[in-house]
Amino acid sequence: MEKRNIIIAPSLLAANFLQLDREMEMINNSEAGWLHLDVMDGRFVPNISFGLPVISQISKIVNKVCDVHLMILEPERYAEAFRDAGAHNLTVHAEACPHLHRNIQQIKDLGMTAGVALNPHTPIGLLENVINDIDVVLIMSVNPGFGGQKFIPHTLDKIKALRQMIDSSGSKALIEIDGGVTLANAGDIVAAGADVLVAGNTVFSAADPKSVISKLKQA
Ligand code: DX5
Ligand code: ZN
Repeated sequence: MEKRNIIIAPSLLAANFLQLDREMEMINNSEAGWLHLDVMDGRFVPNISFGLPVISQISKIVNKVCDVHLMILEPERYAEAFRDAGAHNLTVHAEACPHLHRNIQQIKDLGMTAGVALNPHTPIGLLENVINDIDVVLIMSVNPGFGGQKFIPHTLDKIKALRQMIDSSGSKALIEIDGGVTLANAGDIVAAGADVLVAGNTVFSAADPKSVISKLKQA
């Protein structure tokens, strides 16, 4: 079987914020395909990260797909602002969206690709009726809110089941895995069926981040 092209999405959350220009230069010169941008509101998740002013500046200097992961309530209030700030893909949490189908249509109407994120406890069955409408399914492999947590092993079964669901539905959605991705578990995550690996600490804490990105891509 032909090997899938694996996309690496380093997560800005783990970058050194005092040296963002250098960190972004490293990203631009790396084999990363996407840059993952975690927005937290202190309500949907118990932490606050960064928002529109940071993303609008970063998106101007980064030559990668800007993958914005909204961990916020009422994401529909901000979708247009994130598009204007440079988001290419906008991912919302199913748990934060009682009208998920409407959120997805809004994101696509704004000209972005649409992702839906699922917390570790949220079953993939929730996506059955929107799987053909979305571009990305983001499976949280830690509880969202913080970088540097340990990968929840049960996620591997969830990825396998989602791979089957996507392939049998004819959906083109990419499977993105977020949280606790390391050089040690990336191979298993890819073998289970993932397309996109988010990596925060594994990339930005490394002595040679570019080579770590390369190795993750070969996983
Ligand atoms: C967690 C965020 C992740 C985080 C991953 O809530 O959604 O994207 O940056 O960080 P690591 O790779 O360090 O677990
Ligand atoms: Zn994330």
